[in-house]
Amino acid sequence: MNQPRLDRLGAYPFARLDALLTTLTPNPSLPLINAGAGEPRLPLPPFVADALQRGLDGFSRYPPTRGSPALRQAIADWLMRRYSGITVSGADQVLAANGTREALFAIAHAAINPEADEKPVVLLPNPMYQIYLGAAWTAGAVPHPVPALEGQGFAPAWRQVPEAIWEKTALVYCCSPSNPTGWVASDDDYRLLIRKALQHDFLLVADECYSEIYYRDAPVGLLQVAAAMGHDDFSHCLVCNSLSKRSALPGLRSGLIAGDADWIARFAKLRSYTGPATPLPLQQVAIAAWRDETHVARNLQVYRESLDAFYSAFGSGEPADGGFFVWLAVGDDRAFARAAYRERAVKLLPGSFLGMEGEDGINPGSGFVRIALVDGVDAAGELGLRLRRLVGG
Ligand SMILES: Cc1ncc(COP(=O)(O)O)c(C=O)c1O
Repeated sequence: MNQPRLDRLGAYPFARLDALLTTLTPNPSLPLINAGAGEPRLPLPPFVADALQRGLDGFSRYPPTRGSPALRQAIADWLMRRYSGITVSGADQVLAANGTREALFAIAHAAINPEADEKPVVLLPNPMYQIYLGAAWTAGAVPHPVPALEGQGFAPAWRQVPEAIWEKTALVYCCSPSNPTGWVASDDDYRLLIRKALQHDFLLVADECYSEIYYRDAPVGLLQVAAAMGHDDFSHCLVCNSLSKRSALPGLRSGLIAGDADWIARFAKLRSYTGPATPLPLQQVAIAAWRDETHVARNLQVYRESLDAFYSAFGSGEPADGGFFVWLAVGDDRAFARAAYRERAVKLLPGSFLGMEGEDGINPGSGFVRIALVDGVDAAGELGLRLRRLVGG
């Protein structure tokens, strides 16, 4: 197949959502609630303005692509505070990223060698954050979706992946807590993936950007599980995380990549060409954010109360383990999204836009909608109420 790689990408979910709603007018008697995008809209943490002011002269210098030594150390310190039993070197095992999105995308371009490997496979959970799919296609790999179904608590069916697929696998994306389902990887899930990565020599990338948003217990991290297995150099393992969700700073575009020092060096080489360096003043803000937990605890409280407010107003269901999404079974997800917009002035995302058809022709995102609780507790309660009215509750 000689189709240009770019042509394999479908329209991005938010563009599809706009197209789906374009002919409709939201109910004019209600203020619109945009629960479509997972963009936290909480108050700015108090230290941001000061940190930015202190770092202003950094705009007159080119920033180092890897991130400043101070930022990489702040990230390493955070990882070691957050995850027990790990030792992380800020010098060799950490890179700064402009959010996780660009790093998650670009890592496939470092890990995939379509010329050398016959049909390299990228495993991704299904439904998934669409960047994994776009990265796999544009890097010249074959995406292999791993269904995450309700009957299995939305755990991706890693154990059902055939041996012949593992053998061709070059890269695995695991998202925990999951966007969109809220599933959280257990110690055993990560152990299985780490063993497979070592056995089949692929790169395992954990997208942990929702790690600080959880309803009950703090999720385990990939690096922590690797170290507990005696695998404390993290070989074959990388994690991505960012300040977008943890600190409600999506506009800062600041994140991290950490783990296997060899992969970090290889990825740094690619990035020295692509050049996604974070401006130095923003790195100063990031340092302050990774070193502060007060605002994180406050945000977590808001997310938890938002989940409570939604479910108590909606009248059924309960929060998933992680993240700030409600992943709601609704029947026809596109029809539901249109009705929510037209009748209740709520913008939400049809689940089918976040999944892909597997070999069985089934898109596991179909039949669900994703509702982002990102506007605070009152808006979450209002969302629950409006959707309850929509379903006739
Ligand atoms: C699962 C997942 N990964 C990564 C990202 C990217 O976030 P950022 O680039 O802001 O870190 C998002 C954003 O919505 C996400 O939902």
